[in-house]
Amino acid sequence: MIIDAALHPAEIALLPARDLGATTCVVFDVLRATSSMITALAHGAVAIHPVRTIEEALALRAEIPAAVLCGERHGERIEDFALGNSPFEYRGTAGQTLISTTTNGTVALRAVEGAARVLVGAILNLDALAGELRSRAPERVLLVCAGTFEELALEDACAAGLLIRRLGAARLTDAAQAARAVAQAFPTPLEALRAARNGQALLAKGRGEEVEWCARESEFPIVGVMESATIRTLRR
Ligand code: MLT
Repeated sequence: MIIDAALHPAEIALLPARDLGATTCVVFDVLRATSSMITALAHGAVAIHPVRTIEEALALRAEIPAAVLCGERHGERIEDFALGNSPFEYRGTAGQTLISTTTNGTVALRAVEGAARVLVGAILNLDALAGELRSRAPERVLLVCAGTFEELALEDACAAGLLIRRLGAARLTDAAQAARAVAQAFPTPLEALRAARNGQALLAKGRGEEVEWCARESEFPIVGVMESATIRTLRR
């Protein structure tokens, strides 16, 4: 297995043009898009449609009127959308179909929709992700770190590194080695999340409990897989 990482959002803009036909991508937006998605799936959400823009979300909702509009801009719920991007809001989504648009996370997911496989990465499901990757053993894995606006996000690099540590023997590119080094630099994921720009911003808004939630390692034994731009829980 060769593991690579796209650590910076500038790389994400280039991914749609890259041939990922033989690559399994794991997309991380730990604070908070992918953590909210894993929380939703773990609580019984049926499907999540990640879209890039508010306009796309509204257009898709016109096609699926029962779907729930979710997401954020500048960290806050979008006007007239039912849910924002706090993972706590997603504990009540059993049986629901969600349409989500967020600043970085949903953009990163859609950037790799041409990949052989796309998995939703969070600290909340690291063991399940590692188990899935070990059992399928793809030749190439790309860990996609969604970032924060135009910047690298420490929490995404840390989560990618924690997954690499779980996978053990593999060939690592320099970017993957850098992610692993980030994970090794912090005694716990929570310390990485608290040190991150995004974590600091959430703490300043009094949302420290969300940061703690997103730092819980392997809380949910589930894998989210995106097929045809729709995320569902992987059933074996
Ligand atoms: C994003 O997709 O950029 C985020 O997850 C931002 C957030 O949750 O505030």
